[in-house]
Amino acid sequence: MMNGISECAMLTYDIVVVGSGGAGMRAALAAGEGSGLRVAVISKTYPTRSHTGAAQGGINAVLKNRDANDTTDSHAYDTIKGSDFLADQDAVHYFTEGMPGMIKELDYMGVPFSRDENGKVAQRPFGGASHPRACYSADKTGHVILHALFEQCLKHQVEFLYEWFLLSVVTDGNECEGVTAMNIRTGEIHPVQAKCVVIATGGFGRVYWNRTTNAFNMTGDGAAACLEAGIPLKDPEFIQYHPTGMSKTGVLLSEACRGEGGYLINKNGERFMARYAPEKMELGPRDLVARSIEQEIKEGRGWGEGINAYVCLDLRHLGKEKILERLPQVRQLAIEFEGVDIIEEPVPIRPSCHYVMGGIHVKDYKTAMTPVNGIFAAGECACVSIHGANRLGANSVADAVFYGKVAGEGARELAKTRTFGSGKCLSEDAGRWRETFETMRKKETGTDLINIRQRMAETMWNNVGIFRNEQDMLQALKDIDQLLLEYEDACFHDPSARYNTAFIHYVEVGNLLKLTKAVTIGALNRKESRGAHTREDYPDRDDRRFLKHTLVYKNGDEYRLEYAPVSITKYQPEERKY
Ligand code: FUM
Repeated sequence: MMNGISECAMLTYDIVVVGSGGAGMRAALAAGEGSGLRVAVISKTYPTRSHTGAAQGGINAVLKNRDANDTTDSHAYDTIKGSDFLADQDAVHYFTEGMPGMIKELDYMGVPFSRDENGKVAQRPFGGASHPRACYSADKTGHVILHALFEQCLKHQVEFLYEWFLLSVVTDGNECEGVTAMNIRTGEIHPVQAKCVVIATGGFGRVYWNRTTNAFNMTGDGAAACLEAGIPLKDPEFIQYHPTGMSKTGVLLSEACRGEGGYLINKNGERFMARYAPEKMELGPRDLVARSIEQEIKEGRGWGEGINAYVCLDLRHLGKEKILERLPQVRQLAIEFEGVDIIEEPVPIRPSCHYVMGGIHVKDYKTAMTPVNGIFAAGECACVSIHGANRLGANSVADAVFYGKVAGEGARELAKTRTFGSGKCLSEDAGRWRETFETMRKKETGTDLINIRQRMAETMWNNVGIFRNEQDMLQALKDIDQLLLEYEDACFHDPSARYNTAFIHYVEVGNLLKLTKAVTIGALNRKESRGAHTREDYPDRDDRRFLKHTLVYKNGDEYRLEYAPVSITKYQPEERKY
């Protein structure tokens, strides 16, 4: 016994995957299927409740089912152009060439893709894409993929430690030792030894708290744990704002709405995208469409005032039949969250933080390994980088399953050659966390955690949002430093030893605070506008100085920046026009 909480046995697996979304489960499947290795997935939720389930509109792959002229090279070019030329082009080609095979695998696993009139997987247009290549299952694409992957994992004896929470990624400096995790149900904190670890914990859109399409639990636990373990975050300043978050809640209305022909209108009834992307109109890339909406609002052509201002998404002309067949969830969400039936009325929307392009630095795009031997990362928490400064719609679930598989295979091959470490660092780390838990749950006074979270979101939305400048971001940095200080004295008033979700939330808020600082430092130092990073004080892209990846390191309280080159193989940077 230590401070009243029992010391828990070391658990041992060949491979531990943290996160049970599309990337995590695809990684676990690749690692476990026929390998004879013991593979466990650690997840803070039940696997089928992971955030991949919220991915609505599609998954990109060149199948040529709707357009015989599409090619994997066009998919690569669209992705690179969409990224504002910050994506690593070798990695992008690897991805686009692998995607058709991924869809075939998912189809065979039982994913119920919508079908065209010939019985083939249906494809729809999406923003920034030169051909209709988003495969979909109505507007529940992520949900059905998640369920199929879970079934496959169970079939292949992957073990699930669900309602377990990642506390640390543990290394001896250069080599993976495993992770420390809490069993939320019992309150026990375990060292979990592994030959390889795959981090697949998703993004951290909750830095903006309610102005996001992300689930409550998207708090960047894996990214923060890696940062703490000395693994840098790559390009954290690039944050995607989805054009069509619902106005009151930020909840997503899929880009499929525009892919199926929806219009964006301002209060004068104009399809204003004609001003900003005369060719692509509503199907411009997300960074451009989101900025255009905000510009309309700024110039007084939206409805409402301040934070409550909005423009509208008009789907009425699609007709009831098409809406019910292709966009049933969108309709339901608009009814429930905005009180609007899209068959009858336009729905109020405004950009909402949706995705982080940056993430855990992946060094090798063919294995998804980070700079630490044995630690891999995949999905939204990782930065390979295939999305650069702006991700295209329907490339996210694609990235998750593709790089999930790459990471799972990478971990599987490496695990076969590795032995377990001594476990010393793991036991020490678990001991430190037990002491923290014991102290925190008994703490009776201190700063209110929810207040810290609220102020973090406000400063991030106001100062490090869609439009950025030096003065505002310096203010954000000051606010974040103050919040980090107050966090040291935070208190959550829940003494429970078991199921202490207040403690989990305490760690999550700490993770978000660390990440906001990395985002802000990266953004302050990138003195140019590129993709989703729009600087009012540096409105142009500056390839001479900034065609490079940011790497943010953390050592104790100190943050340090380095830069790394972008891989340009085929396409020289050019001006983006849509
Ligand atoms: O709009 C959507 O359906 C989201 C897709 C994505 O982020 O890839």
